[in-house]
Amino acid sequence: MPLTVEIRALQNGSGSGTPRVRTALLACALLSVASGASAQVGSPAGAVPVDRLAARRAALLEAIGRGVVVVRSAEERNLEGDYPQDSDFRQDNDFFYLTGLESAGAALVLVARTDGPDEAILYLPARQPAKEQWTGEALGPGAEAAALTGIADVRPAERFAEDMARLRADTASPLWRGGLVLGGAVPPACRVRAVEPRCDDAFVGPALAAAGAEVRSLAPYVASQRLVKDADELKRLRRAIDITAEAQREAMRSASPGMYEYELEAVIEYTFRRRGAERVGFPSIVGSGPNSTVLHYDKNRRQTRPGDLVVMDIGAEYGYYTADVTRTIPVSGRFTPRQRAIYELVLGAQQAAIDAIRPGVSVQELEEIARRYMREHSGGLCGDSSCDRYFIHGLSHWLGMDVHDVGAYDRPLAPGMVLTVEPGVYLPGEGLGVRIEDDVLVTATGGEVLSAGAPRTVAAVEALMASGARERAAGAR
Ligand code: GLY
Ligand code: MN
Ligand code: MN
Repeated sequence: MPLTVEIRALQNGSGSGTPRVRTALLACALLSVASGASAQVGSPAGAVPVDRLAARRAALLEAIGRGVVVVRSAEERNLEGDYPQDSDFRQDNDFFYLTGLESAGAALVLVARTDGPDEAILYLPARQPAKEQWTGEALGPGAEAAALTGIADVRPAERFAEDMARLRADTASPLWRGGLVLGGAVPPACRVRAVEPRCDDAFVGPALAAAGAEVRSLAPYVASQRLVKDADELKRLRRAIDITAEAQREAMRSASPGMYEYELEAVIEYTFRRRGAERVGFPSIVGSGPNSTVLHYDKNRRQTRPGDLVVMDIGAEYGYYTADVTRTIPVSGRFTPRQRAIYELVLGAQQAAIDAIRPGVSVQELEEIARRYMREHSGGLCGDSSCDRYFIHGLSHWLGMDVHDVGAYDRPLAPGMVLTVEPGVYLPGEGLGVRIEDDVLVTATGGEVLSAGAPRTVAAVEALMASGARERAAGAR
């Protein structure tokens, strides 16, 4: 069934701000997909809906206005040579965002015209049956790829260089004056803005040989788009965060003095995998005692001791989207009065910032609110100075496909953005670190705490730890 999707978007760069319609023709059959190799089909998160992919591509072309966009996929890693921690292939984020595919050696070409229909061409490596016997079924050029992406024109990757040469035959064309916009897994030397061709990469080199073509990076365009999540992205992100909150609860119920940090890590990552998370969004941080004051400690080797605090900063990745949730727990089940006082201070600062979230506010303003709270409520907790002095990192970052997701920080909050709120106080002299981190969706009127499923107050943390201890005593855990 052929399908036409109309996407309304503000025309970028016209100066008029008048909405116009960019029509993305999806002249492909949206049939059920037979094998779905290379498109997250069969994965717990499933494939990205074709209408979403088409809308993302159309919005990107609106922003670019005119030019040729080339987005390359990631390449396979060498399992023995590169020593990747996790041997499975992970797609380049921008390529996945625009195609939903997990294929290596692929490229997406989009042609943005102001005076005619846009074009989308997908290049995929031809299938190699002998290789597939080792590594499994791959997606080749053909109808299945068209159905999964909504891109009717799917060609063998081998044709890319020849096609680009043909496209640039008329270098005086308005398209080339619109520039060449490169994204995805492009070698760094090609990412820079360059009027002269100076990338010798065999894949994009021929494109850059277009005399006089301006070369721009795709990054700012797609980052600005990825900053505001669409419905499918939010579905994935919510699930990643729910799984991570469950892992926090499981860790709280399991924790007891004498456990090694890696045992808690195992509880956490077991929960991730059994709930369908395909990898960690970043190395799990489980820092006890002195390690609670090391911001990105991820060795997770120490044996916990009675009275320790444990910082657990973790994030499941689900369908290419990652959570980032931190809880700090007393491994013996009860905070000491001093630990509790510091914890309540951090929690209060976090709540003050969360309460201020709404469209129009900036990340810098939120940080100032959290710091002011600390300055006004520290009392003598941190000696002569305010505990704000021991809050040694930023309050927030964007969250999405990357844990520190793409997007400029000078943009005020808008509905659909997701950010972390994560104040902390670190006192290495006492081996006492507290960080509390939640993930918040900006709504039309405020903020929704997506990670509310992970207990956060002193009473809620202690109650869950006590119920875990009771279960252990009864032999149920
Ligand atoms: N987990 C890294 C961070 O919170 O920024
Ligand atoms: Mn974190
Ligand atoms: Mn974070």
